[in-house]
Amino acid sequence: MGTLILFILFSALFAPATSTNRTLSGGLSLSSENPEDVLTSPNGVFSAGFYPVGDNAYCFAIWFASLTSRSQDRTVVWMANRDQPVNGRKSKLFLLRTGNLILTDAGEFTVWQTNTNSLSSSELHLYDTGNLVLRTLGGTNLWESFHFPTDTLLPQQLLIRNTKLVSSISQTNHSSGFYKLLFDNHNVLCLLYDGAEVSSMYWPLPWLKRGQDDGRFVYNSSRIAVLDSFGYFSSSDKFTFSSADYGQLLHRRLTVDYDGNLRLYSWDEEGEMWVVSWQAFQVPCMIHGVCGANGICSHVPGIGRNCSCLPGYKVINHTDWSQGCEPEFDLSFGKNKFDFLQLSHLDFYGYDYSTYPNRTLDQCKNLCLELAECKAFQYTFRSDDGYSTCYPKILLRNGHLPSFGGSFYLRVLKNNHLSNANLAEEVGLNCSSKGALLLERAYTKSRVNGIVKFMLWFVCGLGGLEIVGIFFVWFLLLRTPKNSTADKQGYLLAITGFRKFTYSELKKATKGFTEEIGRGAGGVVYKGVLADNRVAAIKQLYEANQGEDVFLAEVSIIGRLNHMNLIEMWGYCAEGKHRLLVSEYMEHGSLADNLSSNALDWKKMFEIAFGTAKGLSYLHEECLEWVLHCDVKPENIFLDSNYQPKVADFGLSKLQSRVETDNSSFSRMRGTRGYMAPEWVFNLPITSKVDVYSYGIVVLEMMTGKDAAKGVHDIDSGEQPQHKRLVSWVREKKNRAASIESWFDEIIDPRLKGKYDIGKMETLIGVALQCAEEEKDARPSMRQVVEMLLAPENDLQ
Ligand SMILES: *[C@@H]1O[C@H](CO)[C@@H](O)[C@H](O)[C@H]1NC(C)=O
Ligand SMILES: *[C@@H]1O[C@H](CO)[C@@H](O)[C@H](O)[C@H]1NC(C)=O
Ligand SMILES: *[C@@H]1O[C@H](CO)[C@@H](O)[C@H](O)[C@H]1NC(C)=O
Ligand SMILES: *[C@@H]1O[C@H](CO)[C@@H](O)[C@H](O)[C@H]1NC(C)=O
Ligand SMILES: *[C@@H]1O[C@H](CO)[C@@H](O)[C@H](O)[C@H]1NC(C)=O
Ligand SMILES: *[C@@H]1O[C@H](CO)[C@@H](O)[C@H](O)[C@H]1NC(C)=O
Ligand SMILES: *[C@@H]1O[C@H](CO)[C@@H](O)[C@H](O)[C@H]1NC(C)=O
Repeated sequence: MGTLILFILFSALFAPATSTNRTLSGGLSLSSENPEDVLTSPNGVFSAGFYPVGDNAYCFAIWFASLTSRSQDRTVVWMANRDQPVNGRKSKLFLLRTGNLILTDAGEFTVWQTNTNSLSSSELHLYDTGNLVLRTLGGTNLWESFHFPTDTLLPQQLLIRNTKLVSSISQTNHSSGFYKLLFDNHNVLCLLYDGAEVSSMYWPLPWLKRGQDDGRFVYNSSRIAVLDSFGYFSSSDKFTFSSADYGQLLHRRLTVDYDGNLRLYSWDEEGEMWVVSWQAFQVPCMIHGVCGANGICSHVPGIGRNCSCLPGYKVINHTDWSQGCEPEFDLSFGKNKFDFLQLSHLDFYGYDYSTYPNRTLDQCKNLCLELAECKAFQYTFRSDDGYSTCYPKILLRNGHLPSFGGSFYLRVLKNNHLSNANLAEEVGLNCSSKGALLLERAYTKSRVNGIVKFMLWFVCGLGGLEIVGIFFVWFLLLRTPKNSTADKQGYLLAITGFRKFTYSELKKATKGFTEEIGRGAGGVVYKGVLADNRVAAIKQLYEANQGEDVFLAEVSIIGRLNHMNLIEMWGYCAEGKHRLLVSEYMEHGSLADNLSSNALDWKKMFEIAFGTAKGLSYLHEECLEWVLHCDVKPENIFLDSNYQPKVADFGLSKLQSRVETDNSSFSRMRGTRGYMAPEWVFNLPITSKVDVYSYGIVVLEMMTGKDAAKGVHDIDSGEQPQHKRLVSWVREKKNRAASIESWFDEIIDPRLKGKYDIGKMETLIGVALQCAEEEKDARPSMRQVVEMLLAPENDLQ
């Protein structure tokens, strides 16, 4: 039965579209004139043939054949001649008897070849992985397309030294574009904008110190990166990620898109479309080259990015923003013709002429005026120690909003009547969402207009003059020294789309913290409605006395975690003593609520156990054991409208460990009785295996219907009724039972009786018992748990 189901599932997933799979032998060719002339992989997933890229223009390509039959919707994964398409008539892919594979245009020119030769005969095969391989009959590989990727990396395809992914020019033009994914000279996997005039690296973020702050490892020169079929990517510089749907066997592809973002896509069978399951950038304006020189990129949520020109500049080509903007005035006028326009929210990355510390604003202005090529400067000022820095800029590229460090001063003609008001309007700066960020900035303005605007920001951000007063006091008393780490955090937060809320915003959202929906070790959770009508769960952490920068550093990591089995974090608030976390709200409540209300059947239970494992696996793997949950229990697992589990409260252990006295490392107060691993009790090192233990207990609790926190009141274990821990009770029953069936009869929740799949139940209970081993090394990792639950015999019916 199980195998039949599995067979149907697999044939549905990998059904051959046609039966025309054939190999290309020496002396034969494929023709551009015959659309039937394609090679298809044995599993039917991929085809290789001539792909139309324009009127009477073809490229020899590999595409996903099984996903759609409409040729215009094909997803191309590789091209031989992307920069030199061939004619539709008389073009051929020819495998010569000498072993060379050549592509000829209109029967004449060779536009592409593999430059291979072989004395014995050779054949061209398209493998199930999507790799097109030229090999001798003896089995020696002469050439393979996996070694020459275009813009896409398929699962199991290695990205190595000297290979790179290069984006397309646009969505419709497959020619080589400007964005590249490659290993740089520091052995770091990076994204590079390699434009017509300039090149710059933009991922990992260029202002992070290479090999230190960016989390990369620079001393492994093997330079290998690979994606597996389950959605786990790893690179030799220790950069790894798991897709949001990690663990499922899906069609996947990692592509450098024409917009410069690196995205992992998975094929959604039901929706018949590609969905993004991971991407390098949430906010596209951090990608270089977006709006060209003198352009400003702004992120419009829901729409994407938008380009505009600096005041006094006009766009060069409306249909192609990458050409940027040009000044409407002559920069070579004498220096006394110029003045500066302050644009506080703007930042242009790179192209500093030099860095000048400790300059006044006037000195910085003069510096810029003296330099003929200085177009503007960035000026930062720290109000606590009065330290300032001046960065004159010779090129204005990678302009984006908002900025976090200091102000930007643009060189403009005197009496220009330009103002920054229309700039702010055009790019849609919005008080309600940016007010909080603005307060972090140091103000050095003297202009009346600036002060008025500053006050306006306050009013917008805080919603009332009364609060402004209170806030002003707070601002004066508690403003923390601004340092470069805080600046970087600001950048990071902007990139993840995770944002800072003001306390008054959250107070308003929760109607003054009235509707309490939960209470745990970390703090009290309230239901609230945000200004944009999203319903949120707002957790007020018990008084946290760590500094704002430490809190920020940690919260920014939590904000970057993104997995379908983790509660989505929307933001945080850190003001004075208040520390709050804002996340999505789950209508279906927690697993604990659902277990007690008997709302779950076997299928949902299994899905919940599996999904929870995937969420925890992501937490452990993605962050290299950085984020231990430390409090896995039914109260912390929430269910969405499809009863998919979402783990909540992750990262809290880290946020709070600093609160306790430093020498206690992880205090003994973590976790909840009944779910806590023995390491806590015996003072042993705490690793991710503590979550594995708690997970095992949660699964046992779900399947037996017994409350782990209360233990089991066992009446059959002898003359005296005994109170036992859940896991020892299950083990004892196993040892005494004559068969699996009689064991399950005794332990499985009577409400599930007769409604579960015994094979899957055996796996699940087996995994749970292994997870709940006393000895931490005997427990599997969460990743292994996912794999065990994923084993073919456990596929869904
Ligand atoms: C398809 O390819 C497989 C393996 O290469 C081969 O065994 C099979 O005979 C081929 N089918 C057709 C219809 O050519
Ligand atoms: C694609 O872009 C390249 C480079 O800009 C250009 O030469 C080519 O004509 C374009 N192809 C099509 C089909 O538009
Ligand atoms: C370098 O990376 C490769 C691939 O990830 C790995 O197999 C190898 O062990 C690493 N070597 C060192 C010295 O870390
Ligand atoms: C995008 O920018 C243009 C100016 O380049 C502006 O007219 C338009 O309103 C902006 N669109 C949005 C949605 O902000
Ligand atoms: C603007 O750019 C488009 C696309 O690159 C090009 O076809 C067009 O000729 C350009 N227009 C001008 C005026 O340069
Ligand atoms: C900054 O410059 C002033 C004079 O211009 C000098 O007195 C002060 O010591 C300098 N500060 C630093 C940190 O260099
Ligand atoms: C500001 O943003 C909020 C939500 O982000 C939106 O509802 C509001 O209309 C925006 N206001 C302006 C003036 O754009």
